[in-house]
Amino acid sequence: MRTLVHLLASGLVNLFLVTATVVGPRFHRAPSRRANVLGPVSTVEVVNKVIAPDGFPRSTVLAGGTFPGPLIQAQKGDEFLLNVTNLLNDTSMDITTSIHWHGIFQHQSNWADGTAWITQCPIQPNGSFLYRFTVPDQAGTYWYHSHLSAQYCDGLRGPLVIYDPDDPLADMYDVDDGMVTSSFC
Ligand SMILES: *[C@@H]1O[C@H](CO)[C@@H](O)[C@H](O)[C@H]1NC(C)=O
Ligand SMILES: *[C@@H]1O[C@H](CO)[C@@H](O)[C@H](O)[C@H]1NC(C)=O
Ligand SMILES: *[C@@H]1O[C@H](CO)[C@@H](O)[C@H](O)[C@H]1NC(C)=O
Repeated sequence: MRTLVHLLASGLVNLFLVTATVVGPRFHRAPSRRANVLGPVSTVEVVNKVIAPDGFPRSTVLAGGTFPGPLIQAQKGDEFLLNVTNLLNDTSMDITTSIHWHGIFQHQSNWADGTAWITQCPIQPNGSFLYRFTVPDQAGTYWYHSHLSAQYCDGLRGPLVIYDPDDPLADMYDVDDGMVTSSFC
């Protein structure tokens, strides 16, 4: 059994860990059939929800209403059309938002980088923003997160995986079975 581990760490107190474990017959090219998976052309609703990720209920900011947010899955060369819709209404926290697609080069689509007050105005409550970009020469495990203030610490983050149909490392693993661990701050 062979294990492939991707590790991403970010921020001061946030650890983002993706592991892939080899367990069976060759399957790595097949897209995930898990629930909570979005394709590159999707709507992502950002909502407030009370959850208890560590046993203590608290209001959070979630992509698609789950923590972590849905896996966004694409193929190298795909065009992303991600309509991020802001349904935030908990005024004890920020109710504007933006999403950064961490690690994506954004060549000729800098405006879609998702950095609030730098490449775009924050998305207003009840507003939406269409992020449109391509990934002609990138594949691998990435993540997305709020890029407004420290909002990603309140829950808005999730995995972003781009598969390469001609993966040069394809013979090194059989199953890509991602997992995310995180801490709240
Ligand atoms: C994004 O979704 C919102 C809410 O459904 C909708 O009002 C808006 O027209 C959509 N934007 C695009 C570009 O499809
Ligand atoms: C706020 O938004 C959440 C999630 O969309 C919803 O469940 C809740 O009813 C809303 N609360 C108010 C006061 O509108
Ligand atoms: C967003 O839309 C909902 C439903 O139409 C409305 O109740 C709420 O007041 C709106 N929020 C803002 C900030 O405009």
